[in-house]
Amino acid sequence: MSARRAIVVVATAGALALFGTSCAPGSIPSSPSSPSPPLPGSSGARAAATAARPSTHGTAAAVSPARPETRRSGYADMSAATQAMQRDDAANPAWLWVEEGRQRFAAQCARCHEVAAMAGVAARYPAWDERLQRPLTLGQRITDCHGRHVRGMGDKGDARATDDARPDARAALPPEDETRLALETFVALQSRGRPIAPPADARLAPWRERGRALFAQRMGQLDLSCAQCHEQYAGRRLAGSVIPQGHPTGYPIYRLEWQGLGSLQRRLRGCLVGVRAEPFAADGEEATALEAFLMSRAAGLPMETPAVRP
Ligand code: HEC
Ligand code: HEC
Repeated sequence: MSARRAIVVVATAGALALFGTSCAPGSIPSSPSSPSPPLPGSSGARAAATAARPSTHGTAAAVSPARPETRRSGYADMSAATQAMQRDDAANPAWLWVEEGRQRFAAQCARCHEVAAMAGVAARYPAWDERLQRPLTLGQRITDCHGRHVRGMGDKGDARATDDARPDARAALPPEDETRLALETFVALQSRGRPIAPPADARLAPWRERGRALFAQRMGQLDLSCAQCHEQYAGRRLAGSVIPQGHPTGYPIYRLEWQGLGSLQRRLRGCLVGVRAEPFAADGEEATALEAFLMSRAAGLPMETPAVRP
């Protein structure tokens, strides 16, 4: 074992203790890389075939087009039972939020947006917002649209009466708000099976670069970077769970450990707390930059919202 690897393994052993039961450094086995099984959803297999093609997207530079596809969804690293729960819409608990989102969308959003027009939208977020002159994640975009057009706040707000009779129809939608998660899940479901397709918008480039730098930067008391776990150690075990490659293909996800639905930001917060680093501010610039980078790194992989994760 090289000296450099030994240092990282010792640091990772510290992380093992944090993520759950502690575990000796020598017990991180390398797992044979297995081909990705087809993803759930009727168009999943088709989209997986698309994903197997090297990306031709100018912004998706994480994987060189000359190399064969080695990226895989966290779905591929899960147990058969958890995979089955994700594949079966009737068994996937996220469907409770999908139904809530469907109702909210019909009552609050449908006067301006057809459901069919939401197809493919989630696959190209974060996207540049002309009015705010910065990128918005899909969750932020929904909060913004709801704030102006349903609550009637902000410039050019349209305060017309909403068809949603529930008393909380005009309540704000902060990050991790259940209504925001429900709307985001319903909107992202309209992209299920479609390849992640970050926009070729030059204004997003500096944000992706900032996200890429954050991904490579060592953080927290354990001094580990996202890349160390999700590239160097992807596929190996950490306190019983397989370290996935960290692709944001299925958000919002239903996480068994949370017993609930959560956003990508919440997932990242878990990783940061795991290495004892300060979590990013909710809806803050760092979280948005990292999300923009992660989506470009996953360009071409099929969307699988609503995913289930351990
Ligand atoms: C009064 C009309 C109106 C209502 C109501 C409305 N929106 Fe919008 N929405 C817009 C407009 C206009 C845009 C284009 C961007 C902008 O001006 O902010 C937009 C953009 C969006 C986008 C981005 C689409 C894309 O292609 O990038 C999403 C997602 C969205 N809205 C979701 C929602 C949701 C969810 C609701 C209900 C909570 C909602 N909107 C309610 C008018 C509306
Ligand atoms: C100590 C190792 C470690 C570090 C450092 C780490 N993660 Fe993770 N990450 C994990 C593990 C383990 C999981 C899966 C946990 C589970 O499913 O039980 C995970 C899950 C994820 C997922 C979910 C993937 C999916 O399939 O839904 C994403 C995205 C992610 N991490 C991104 C990041 C980012 C970005 C950073 C840096 C800010 C980071 N991680 C830092 C270990 C790490």
